Amino acid sequence: MIYITRRERFNAAHRLYRNDFSDEKNLEVFGKCSNPNWHGHNYELFVTVKGETSPETGFLVNLKILSKLIRETVIVKLDHKNINLEVDFMQGKLASTENLAVGIWNEIEEEIKSLGAELHCVKLSESENNSAEYYG
Ligand code: NI
Repeated sequence: MIYITRRERFNAAHRLYRNDFSDEKNLEVFGKCSNPNWHGHNYELFVTVKGETSPETGFLVNLKILSKLIRETVIVKLDHKNINLEVDFMQGKLASTENLAVGIWNEIEEEIKSLGAELHCVKLSESENNSAEYYG
């Protein structure tokens, strides 16, 4: 079994808040990410897949094809978008790094199987210091 990771980047806007909290309570719980007028992050998405290396190519998967799959499945929906308002698979969810990592997993898991590999991990970095990892 071998693992390989592709990084993709996107930037997007969001707001962390609950309608049933006041702006003050949202600020207390969610910090600067609760800004009522939105803000953006430069996200880094690391998709790790696992499987066996092909003796013919020496590859687990063709990373160009994996990159295209990730971009066409999720990046196109996220890049330069408002996660709260515009991203179909995040509707009704808090736009946290954790929930976004799970949402991305759910969008790409089946697609990865078409490459003859299995999805192992979705790691999403919201900033240099904060990231979430989801293993299904
Ligand atoms: Ni934020």
